[in-house]
Amino acid sequence: MDEQGMRYHSRMWVRPENLNANGTLFGGHLLSWIDEQVALYSIVQLGNERVVTKYMSEINFVSSAWQGDIIELGIFPVKFGRTSLTLRCNVRNMVTRESIITVDKIVMVSLDDQGRPLEHGYSEITYARDRIPHRMKPIPRPEPHIPEAVSSHEPLADLDG
Ligand SMILES: CC(C)(COP(=O)(O)OP(=O)(O)OC[C@H]1O[C@@H](n2cnc3c(N)ncnc32)[C@H](O)[C@@H]1OP(=O)(O)O)[C@@H](O)C(=O)NCCC(=O)NCCS
Repeated sequence: MDEQGMRYHSRMWVRPENLNANGTLFGGHLLSWIDEQVALYSIVQLGNERVVTKYMSEINFVSSAWQGDIIELGIFPVKFGRTSLTLRCNVRNMVTRESIITVDKIVMVSLDDQGRPLEHGYSEITYARDRIPHRMKPIPRPEPHIPEAVSSHEPLADLDG
């Protein structure tokens, strides 16, 4: 645990496919990794597989990472809400401990089987595997609303014709 109360749950090698055109870690890849790790953490804490990202605060990359670096991700639960869990996340170089990014506020929301916010009933972090959820079906996709003007269009002309 570091001075911000964070536990570093996962580590990643920076591979060639993670790089931007500058030859350093691509920010989009890092955000995807953060989002996935925070979602997995929230699933275990809220006992529900249906957890989605609602809000992320400022994204400010303060340093970079290079191919071959090992980076690690820390998560700290800031607040258990009624249907949400707010977390802070830091990614740093594992060796130098230099911070790459801190996202101060990430809000994850627990959903019911219709995709509505669901009260989770928890107020404290668990360190045991006592909230592992059962496997569930994906949330059904709502019927899309297709405006009349679009749905009555003739099929697009064959571009070769
Ligand atoms: C998540 C979603 C169901 C929430 O719907 P909503 O109408 O905002 O629901 P509520 O107003 O009841 O808010 C639910 C929780 O989110 C919190 N919340 C909502 N908007 C927020 C915001 N802008 N910032 C921080 N927290 C927020 C609320 O405080 C509430 O938390 P609490 O119950 O612990 O107090 C809806 O916005 C949604 O489906 N969004 C898409 C999520 C998604 O698919 N994410 C993946 C990327 S596309």
